[in-house]
Amino acid sequence: MKIIPGPASLELGRKVADLLGVGIVPVYFKTFPDGESYIRLDGKSEEQIVIIQTTGPPQNTHFIQLFLMIDAAKDLGAKTVKVVIPYLGYARQDKRFLSGEAFSINTIMTLLEASGVKNIITVNSHNPEILKAFKIPVTDLSAIGLLAEYFKNKGFDGAFSLSIGKKAMDTVKQANNVLGGGFDCLPTQRDRITGKVTIERQSLPVKNRDVIIFDDIISSGGTMAKAVKIVNDQSAKRIYVACIHPILVGDAKNKILNNGADGIVGTDCLRSSVSVVSVAPLIAQALK
Ligand code: R5P
Repeated sequence: MKIIPGPASLELGRKVADLLGVGIVPVYFKTFPDGESYIRLDGKSEEQIVIIQTTGPPQNTHFIQLFLMIDAAKDLGAKTVKVVIPYLGYARQDKRFLSGEAFSINTIMTLLEASGVKNIITVNSHNPEILKAFKIPVTDLSAIGLLAEYFKNKGFDGAFSLSIGKKAMDTVKQANNVLGGGFDCLPTQRDRITGKVTIERQSLPVKNRDVIIFDDIISSGGTMAKAVKIVNDQSAKRIYVACIHPILVGDAKNKILNNGADGIVGTDCLRSSVSVVSVAPLIAQALK
């Protein structure tokens, strides 16, 4: 087996290869003046190839690079190509909410099926259930335990775990298995026209206690900032924010910190200034 660390996951791809003790196929990539992507695999391919390429911003470029790498690997002799997509872009449009809308994740998965990849590994994909509807097998890993362990090792044993959205109940239970300080979920509602998220205020057992708020994605930071404010208004001690996919668009970080968070921690599913927890061991284990 050889790993191709894609342009969007160069460091993570190399870390996974090191942990597995396997070689890598370096990728030469560039963007043409008109914006098109160029990919050249620098070396020989193996029969079994694993491409690691996350698909955060710029999502479209990263997806096209992924498709180009899949084709180039097959062309160089790979018999099976697996892809690891730590952050699966377009996963939040997981149904046709309004008539006439594109069902984006369906389109992405259909393209991946057509590319001929054997299977896909994702990390805390937005809606793993929807991915089961496709012919191509998808393994969705959870990095919540790794995030919770990080906090435990930093002295947050016994902190209260909170997540956003009732669908995240399983996620927050995983965090509580590590931190052990109790857990709850803040219910949310999203306006399908404006995209605005409303979080229901509720009384939480957080007074003078450390709280870690978990979410799969922080994009604009608006949702997390509201959750932080709800917890801060209830006199929590320290409030930390943990996410798997720190997209952190624009001033997302400041929005969250200005509402009372003491810090933000994310994983290297996406490169960012808060990506301090590596998912490389999780991915390496899954590839063994
Ligand atoms: C929503 O379903 C996700 O779990 C996140 O809560 C959401 O994507 C965060 O988006 P933003 O940071 O833009 O509020």
